[in-house]
Amino acid sequence: MATTNTLWKLDEHTIGKHMVLKAYMQAWLPVMGLTNEKILVVDGFAGPGEYEGGELGSPQILLNTYLEHFYQDKLTNHIIYYFLEKSPKRYAHLCELLKKNFSDVPSNVAVKAHCKAFSSRLSELLDDTEKNRKVLVPSFFMIDPFGVSDTPMSIISRILRNPKAEVYISFMYEFINRFKRSPEFGPHLTELFGTERWQDGVHIECKNDRRKFFNELYKSQLKKAGAKQVLHFELYNGNRHVYTIFFATTHIKGIEKMKSAIWRYIPDGSYQFRGGIQQTKLVAIDIDYSPLHDTLRATFKDRYVTAQTVLYFIASDATDYATDSIKTKYLKVFEKKGLIDVEPASRNRRFSYPDNALLKFLPRS
Ligand SMILES: C[S@@+](CC[C@H](N)C(=O)[O-])C[C@H]1O[C@@H](n2cnc3c(N)ncnc32)[C@H](O)[C@@H]1O
Repeated sequence: MATTNTLWKLDEHTIGKHMVLKAYMQAWLPVMGLTNEKILVVDGFAGPGEYEGGELGSPQILLNTYLEHFYQDKLTNHIIYYFLEKSPKRYAHLCELLKKNFSDVPSNVAVKAHCKAFSSRLSELLDDTEKNRKVLVPSFFMIDPFGVSDTPMSIISRILRNPKAEVYISFMYEFINRFKRSPEFGPHLTELFGTERWQDGVHIECKNDRRKFFNELYKSQLKKAGAKQVLHFELYNGNRHVYTIFFATTHIKGIEKMKSAIWRYIPDGSYQFRGGIQQTKLVAIDIDYSPLHDTLRATFKDRYVTAQTVLYFIASDATDYATDSIKTKYLKVFEKKGLIDVEPASRNRRFSYPDNALLKFLPRS
């Protein structure tokens, strides 16, 4: 909700953004933090750090994820948390909270906050890095504006040129949709997408097709910018679509972990966070693996392929499925049904799927 107040009410859809963020960071921290000397977490539109009712904002969520982490005592390498907030009063509020709640973080953790605009500060940071022919340390960027200004594709593409950088972006679709015909808004959209091709979507009548067009265009621009894997999920308030979160990474592990975080809170696989009952894992939902099977059959045809290749493909953005429990819930079940053939000599134990096991996907009917 765009507002000029220092604090504002936490909307239901924001909870979805925060829950997935936290679940992802729980996985990202040990993957990156245990194997790299230094890692960086940037919250580029940090906000005041909390909401009207005292609920935690993204900076506190990010820091708590580290402090409460199961592996916190092993995560001793250098972690930099870098918060940018343009509004002086929100920045002041954030600084108060950081001082009150996080002044005694372990010495390997640096918490920095600046009252600066995202793209100009990022330009400086990236200029420095590029000038010295260096690359960014493994980095996670949360880019969470109210609207569409100051999140140009030119900056995102400079971030993604770094082999271990990832972005988690709030793509303000409804905002785009509302203002797409306003002439003064055009340059912002061209910056946001990094192309004028957004104009081809303005006249699409069907609203679902229009949204699909803008989502696909944004995804393809992220890929052009250097992302190897891109996915998105949508945030709803009741039945109203509010905005879409895009995640872009250069690494298969990143997309695998992000899918897992999304499925945890959107267990029906719709990639639409609608709050309420979906927010918990209490609901057991039977996942239908038939569409996945059909995709694998269409992709690999009558060839035998290694389990490693199959798992990589499932984890990638070529499918919506997460790899959690995939061996027991899909491979084993479909093999028992006679829909997956496994070359007997390629494994030692029935219904096991080591990396080198050779699998062939058979037609369902
Ligand atoms: C959607 S809110 C951020 C919420 C926060 N990320 C969270 O999840 O708790 C967007 C924030 O970005 C700030 N902002 C707006 N333009 C900015 C810019 N160019 N650079 C940095 N911050 C900006 C706004 O003042 C606002 O506090």
